[in-house]
Amino acid sequence: MSETTQSIKELVLSSKDLVAGYLPGVDILTGCNFDLFKGELVGIIGPNGAGKSTLVKSMFGLVEVRSGTVELMGEKITNLAAHELVKKGVGFVPQNENVFPSLTVAENLEMGAYQLPKAEVTARIRSITDLFPRLGERIKQRAGLLSGGERQMLAMGRALMMEPQVLLLDEPSAGLSPALQVEVFENVTSINQTGVSIVMVEQNATRCLKISDRGYVLDQGKNAYDGTGQDLLNDPNVIKLYLGTLAQS
Ligand SMILES: Nc1ncnc2c1ncn2[C@@H]1O[C@H](COP(=O)(O)OP(=O)(O)OP(=O)(O)O)[C@@H](O)[C@H]1O
Ligand SMILES: [Mg+2]
Repeated sequence: MSETTQSIKELVLSSKDLVAGYLPGVDILTGCNFDLFKGELVGIIGPNGAGKSTLVKSMFGLVEVRSGTVELMGEKITNLAAHELVKKGVGFVPQNENVFPSLTVAENLEMGAYQLPKAEVTARIRSITDLFPRLGERIKQRAGLLSGGERQMLAMGRALMMEPQVLLLDEPSAGLSPALQVEVFENVTSINQTGVSIVMVEQNATRCLKISDRGYVLDQGKNAYDGTGQDLLNDPNVIKLYLGTLAQS
């Protein structure tokens, strides 16, 4: 993030005292607070079952928010449906099943922007293949035949078709080899450098925090720690409880 954007600190997405859950009477998030400023890349880490996916899903209208608020550029968007949020400039890449394997790369990208005029769709596909040339090389190939890293690239590319201001990524490096993980993190950084503000949930906590402007540690549905990526990487409690030996990698 540039110094200019940091000094202005325009709040893009925020949640306050978020309580959310799936089953009646069972709250998974029990008071989560989260801010994303314009141009930032913010990482969310924490143990399995902490509520990381639930937090991003609740900001994308996929989990019922029971109390608290979600705001986008100062506008209350709590419990708006996902398609409304896409129109307002929010993109979401889920952890699993984020491409259509039987469709080609081009068709997957088109699905990301099916309501736009053809010429606009073509132009946007071109800007995505400029960003990820590998997708351009495989444009007619079925998505099911892509490598894991290429699939994640395609899933992010599809979300970028609507030119979101905010991109929510749920574990983009999950299940990938260390080399492909590095590639995915480079891709996330490239997207961020185009001006898209990003929220990234990650199991790979150390790598995630290394590229994040700021990070949040969630535990049992609540904020446990937050700070700059570097501060969290150096915090002895965060290292002991959440990074373990991975902090050295
Ligand atoms: N669709 C669902 N219905 C009911 N409970 C759910 C559902 N999805 C998740 N949960 C529960 O919500 C809690 C938090 O899950 P969540 O997926 O948000 O965790 P997470 O931090 O993303 O974990 P992970 O690191 O394993 O992805 C878990 O106890 C989980 O069992
Ligand atoms: Mg998850």
